[in-house]
Formats: sequence, structure tokens, C-alpha cells
Amino acid sequence: MQATAIAQPNIAFIKDWGKRDVERNLPAVGSISITLSELYTEVSVVLSPELRSDELFVNGEENQPMLPRISRCLDNVIGAQRLRARIASQSNFPIAAGLASSASAFAATTVAAASAADLSYGTEELARLAGQASGSAARSLYGGFAELKNSNDTINLIALCEADSWPLQVVVAITETGPKPTGSTAAMEIFRETSPFYASWIEQQDQDLEIARHAIVQREFAQLATVAEHSCLKMHSVMWASRPPMVYWNSATMRCMQTVRRLQADGCSVFFTIDAGPQLKAVCLPEDAEAVSKALAETPGVQQLMMSGLGPAARLVSKT
Ligand code: PMV
Repeated sequence: MQATAIAQPNIAFIKDWGKRDVERNLPAVGSISITLSELYTEVSVVLSPELRSDELFVNGEENQPMLPRISRCLDNVIGAQRLRARIASQSNFPIAAGLASSASAFAATTVAAASAADLSYGTEELARLAGQASGSAARSLYGGFAELKNSNDTINLIALCEADSWPLQVVVAITETGPKPTGSTAAMEIFRETSPFYASWIEQQDQDLEIARHAIVQREFAQLATVAEHSCLKMHSVMWASRPPMVYWNSATMRCMQTVRRLQADGCSVFFTIDAGPQLKAVCLPEDAEAVSKALAETPGVQQLMMSGLGPAARLVSKT
């Protein structure tokens, strides 16, 4: 019983930050994201009566620290009485560094685990299961532009528009490849418990979501740029105002922001977004992609660039 799935990471324009229910991993707010095409995580799950415990290999090396979360994800998808599993994950980008590796990893794990166990869940259910492991993973079950709606007692995912209907380009400027100091789950709890801005963050989210949704449907780049940068900077502001404060940027992150501001002043259609890590993602129209990547490559402190378009939903690639 073996299945392999691939999922692409996604990047939120309107950020998910904060948990409403930690036990069930329900987000405090809705979010809107794009799924990337060029970055990916491939996960294979083998269920076997010969295994005495779960085993996890990440990029070819056994990984104990991440095993409990992956095992819990399999328990949720298959049921706790399941056979033990050997899980192997391979990513073509740095993991746990603010590049949404948990989104692609848990989305692919969910799809592979369900298939290995012969369970035929629909996409919405797979997204809910992936979301229990990592909030943002739910969005990688969808390609192109997706919205996670946080209503009632559950999450609902809706496809806003297909990947090829607005072919935005993303230039990822990697400024540091080491793991981030505080993982998102722990950081979100510190935020909820200590930030003086928790209530206003929640209160304003619906308005940001509405503006972004409208901008995407109408292909209004300037409007999307303004609200996405606002959501990003607001999220980092509430991180800074948590106790202890969480500062994910380094000096190169700031320099990349200045580069984007300069490109905007020169007339490029580009905006930035930054997640829980020091990498900057510049989102632009295809005609400006070359200028954006050249300017970011020349920005001091940028170690590596990754270019991506918008990509497909998580999917099964093989099953035996
Ligand atoms: O929901 P999580 O635990 O995967 O964390 C996502 C947090 C951010 O990447 C910072 C924002 C987002 O919406 O992707």
C-alpha cells in the first residue's frame, strides 16, 4: 500500500495569523493565497504491517523532530488504528525557512496517505484534513488563487480563479536558508496571548479579504498590491508587538523591500509579501519579471532567487 503525491507551496496575499481553536487547529481569520508552480514537495507514504513504528525521511535523511506532527496527520487522515508508515518527503527548496514548506509537505502527505489507505475523500475534505496539520496546507489543495473561509465551526476552501487566468509571476529572494527561530504555531499562540493588537487584527480581516477578492476577480493589480502589502506589514507589526517579540526579517529582507519600492517608483507592477521567515516574495506582472529578478539579484544579502508562476493543486502521482 504505497502512494506518492506532489504539492506546491502557497503564498498568502491576505495572511493567516492566529488560531481560533488550537486543539483543532482552526485559524482565527480567513486568508487568500496563490499556489506556486516551480517549488514543490513530493511525499510518498508506504503503509506496511511489517513496520513497528512510523518512520520519516526528509530529503533523504531520517527526521525525528518532525515525525510526531506527520504521524498525527496520518492518524487524522486514516484513523489512529492504521498500519504504521514509512514517509519520505523531498522538496526542491529550503524547508522550515518561511517558504511555506509545511503547506506543501502536509498537503502532499494528506493526499498520499488517503490514497495509500484507499480512502476517497473529496478535495474539500482533504483540504480540511491537511488544514488540521498546518493551517496553510489546506490552501495547497487548490491551484491558482484560493480563499480559505473561516466560518462557523470549520474551514471552507473556495477556488477564486485558475492559475492560467491571471499569470502573475513570483520572484522569491532567499536571504537566509537556516530554520526560523520560532515556528508559526508557537508564534501564533504567543501573539494571541500577548499582543495588544489581537482584536483589531481579527476585526479588520474581512475588509482586507473583500478588497483582495475583488482585485483578483477584476485583475486589478494596483489594488491587490496595496492590500497585500498592508496585510503583510500588519501581520509583521503584530508579531513585533507580541511578547516576546517575533522579528523574522534580517537586513537583507529590508533591502529587498527597498528594491521593490524603487521598482515601483520606476513604474514596475510589483509588490512584496513576507511570511514567518526572512525571505521576500516579489509578485509581479509577467512583463516586469525580468527587471524584478535582476534588481533583487543585485540586492546585497540575497543568496538565491527562485522564480515561479502559479501552479496546480496537490495531486496524486502514483499508487501501487
Ligand atoms: O497556518 P500555518 O501554521 O501554516 O502558518 C501560516 C503563516 C504564514 O505563512 C505566516 C501566513 C500564511 O497565511 O501563510
